[in-house]
Formats: sequence, C-alpha cells, structure tokens
Amino acid sequence: MSRLTRLIDRRSAPQRGAYNIEMTASKPQTPSVALPPLHNDQFLRACLRLPTDYTPVWLMRQAGRYLPEYRATRDVAGSFMGLATNPELACEVTMQPLRRYDLDAAILFSDILTIPDAMGLGLSFAAGEGPKFAKVVRDEAAVAELAVPDMDKLRYVFDAVRTIRQALSDDQGVGKVPLIGFSGSPWTLACYMVEGGGSDDYRLVKTLMYQRPDLMHKILAVNADAVALYLNTQIEAGAQAVMVFDSWGGVLADGAFQEFSLAYTRRVLAQLKREHEGYRIPHIVFTKGGGLWLDQIADTGCDVVGLDWTMNLGQARAMVGDRVALQGNLDPNVLFAQPEQIAQQVIRTLDSFGAPRNADGSYAGHVFNLGHGISQFTPPEHVTALVDTVHSHSRKLRA
Ligand code: CP3
Repeated sequence: MSRLTRLIDRRSAPQRGAYNIEMTASKPQTPSVALPPLHNDQFLRACLRLPTDYTPVWLMRQAGRYLPEYRATRDVAGSFMGLATNPELACEVTMQPLRRYDLDAAILFSDILTIPDAMGLGLSFAAGEGPKFAKVVRDEAAVAELAVPDMDKLRYVFDAVRTIRQALSDDQGVGKVPLIGFSGSPWTLACYMVEGGGSDDYRLVKTLMYQRPDLMHKILAVNADAVALYLNTQIEAGAQAVMVFDSWGGVLADGAFQEFSLAYTRRVLAQLKREHEGYRIPHIVFTKGGGLWLDQIADTGCDVVGLDWTMNLGQARAMVGDRVALQGNLDPNVLFAQPEQIAQQVIRTLDSFGAPRNADGSYAGHVFNLGHGISQFTPPEHVTALVDTVHSHSRKLRA
C-alpha cells in the first residue's frame, strides 16, 4: 500500500481541475489534492503512480546545443547567460524540443548555477568551455560571507517560468504539458562553488570536506535553504513539478554521501511546497551514480527517484516498492546508434521496468528519460525514434 494510501482516480470532466485524487480513510488528515488542468497530464500521473495510458517521456537537457534552432537562438542572445536571463528567449528554447517531438513535459530553460551566481560568485561561460566562477568558496572568510540570496536577483528565472506557462496554455488556460522547475542539489552546487567550475577529480571540494567538515556543513546548510526557497518560488511562479539534480552525489564515498549530500537533499525536501493552488507538485530527486543508495534516496520523502543507466529498472522497482515512482534510465549514448537500434534499446528499458501494474492492481510509476543529459552531438532526428518507441511500446504493455 502506498504512503499516500490507495489513490482513487476520478476522471470526470475533461479539463479544468478534472482529476481529483482522494485519500482513503486510512489517512484522513491528508487533504484531497488534484492535478492541474492539462491536455496531457501523463507525466504528473506517472510521478504520483496514478494510472497512465502510456509511459510519459522527457529528456534531461532536452533544450540544448544538439538542436540547430537552439544554437540560432543562443546566437541571438549572444551567450548562454544572455539566453538564460531573457525570459522570452528562455521560453523560446524551452518550447523548441516540444515542437519537434511528442514529449510529455517541458523543463524550464535555465541552469543549476544561477543560485551561486545570485550569491555573488560571478558565473560566466566562455565559448566552448564549461562554467567558471570569478570568486570561489574555499576558506572561513568566504564561507562567512555566504547567505541565501535575495530571490529578486533570480527574478529572470521566475519570469521565464511565468512566460513558459503562458506559452504552454491554450486560451482556456489549459496547458499542453506540465512544466518542470529544477535546481542543483546543495552538494552539487557546493562542488562548483569550491572548485570554481567543473572538475575531473573533485580534489578541492573533497579537501575542504575532509579537512574542514564544519565549513562544508555551513556551505551546505546555506545551499539547502537557498535551493528550497528557489524551488518554492518557482512553484509559486507556475512550475508544476520540481527536480533536484544531484549530479555529483555519486562521486562521494559511502558515508560521505549520506552526510554531505543526502542529508541536505532531505533538508530541501522537508521545506518544499507539496501543493500549490490545490494541485499536487511532485518532487523528483536524481543522484547520478546513486544506484547503490537507492533505498535511502527513496526514503527522503520525494515522489520520484531518477536513475542513471547503471541500474536495472525492474530491480530498482522491487527495491523501492510503493514508496516512489522511477525516472530513467537509457544511456544517452544509445542515441548515436541507428533508429532501429535505438528502438530496441528503448524496448529493453521499458521491458526491464516490467508491467505497468503491480500484483495488487495498483500502478507503479515510470517516467522514461535518459540516465543523464542528452549529448550536444546527438543527431536530432534520432530523438524521434526514442520518443515514438516509448509511446508505442508502452501502449502495447497496457493492451
Ligand atoms: O534540461 C533542460 O533542457 C533544461 C536546461 C538545463 C541546462 N542545464 C541548460 C544548459 C538544465 C536542467 C541544466 C542543469 C545543469 N547544469 C546540471 C545538472 C544536470 C546534469 O547535466 O548533471 C549541471 C551539472 C549544470 C552545470 C553546467 N551548465 C555545465 C557543466 C555546463 C557546461 C557544459 C555542458 O554540459 O554544456 C552548463 C551549460 C549549459 N546549461 C548548457 C545548457 C543548454 C550549454 C551551454 C551553451 O549553450 O553554450
């Protein structure tokens, strides 16, 4: 039986506030919640382990450099940050993959590094290179200066959320697909803040963690409260689900992961709004390389756990039981194979998850995704094979 107890799906009127989910008497204190009015709410339904007609799919980094129209819009903006800070252009690139492919969710176009930038660290992206910070956080003085940033500095993000919701809506206010908001995890943000950019070995951030765990805990506490406020403000602006990217959680040792990553992801989740305007907001946690800790991640209180390609989805499903839905987990490099081969790998991934229903008749939620972001070298037409096969094969699994 799920934590939410049995969910009764009441699909009545076709649009506005149509899907009411009510709890049974075993958890009477939980208020009834609803899904927002959407033409396609399959993604939200899978996140909440409600019945779906097929397996919904979206792709991490679905708006990005593999699309020629993205590169053209970025050229108009002048730079990546120019694009991210312009709500109209950020909206345009968010919509681009939805025009090409039959995706079941949109994701806000932004970056996880907006928070440390708003903390005053000075983010820049040199052409063809990764992110760089003008200031780094490696000593007591720099840590003492850190604070949860004023959300006004991130207004461009919330404006982009509002603009995208508008673009997704028809004239009745009914959305095409849900919009996902996101943030980096406290640990993953700390990696960039200490290293000053990307890293191959995480030497500087791990040096601080092992030498001065007290300072690391201070950074992580500020980050966690900043991430929670940032995500709640995205929810208030219109994000209909939120995802925490713990992209570098998997570089930690067992023990260190629980202390420096998971504990702070939990601190974020504990502060997140579960509902907005009466609608449930699913929370997704993705720890790249986190498969060995799946059982603990499933206990954080999130609704969905994202998995990279190292995990077998069926085994993961057996482990998490009715605690969470799963998201993932095709190796992004599969997209370099030929379309028929991509279709075979998609079918394997769907089959590894197994039948949509559990033995007791309830649904086990699966959101199809890649195990990490799509590569910039991906041939755009190959993505069509992925999306279409997810839909057609998962419909067959329900027939
Ligand atoms: O998924 C989406 O379509 C939404 C957009 C999105 C971006 N970054 C846009 C982006 C999301 C969800 C992110 C998250 C992000 N950013 C993560 C977590 C996800 C992951 O991949 O693990 C991380 C670690 C970052 C940090 C970051 N931003 C790096 C390391 C880089 C440069 C290298 C790279 O992979 O491109 C970025 C820049 C960035 N963020 C680009 C895009 C489309 C490319 C920059 C460009 O267009 O020149």
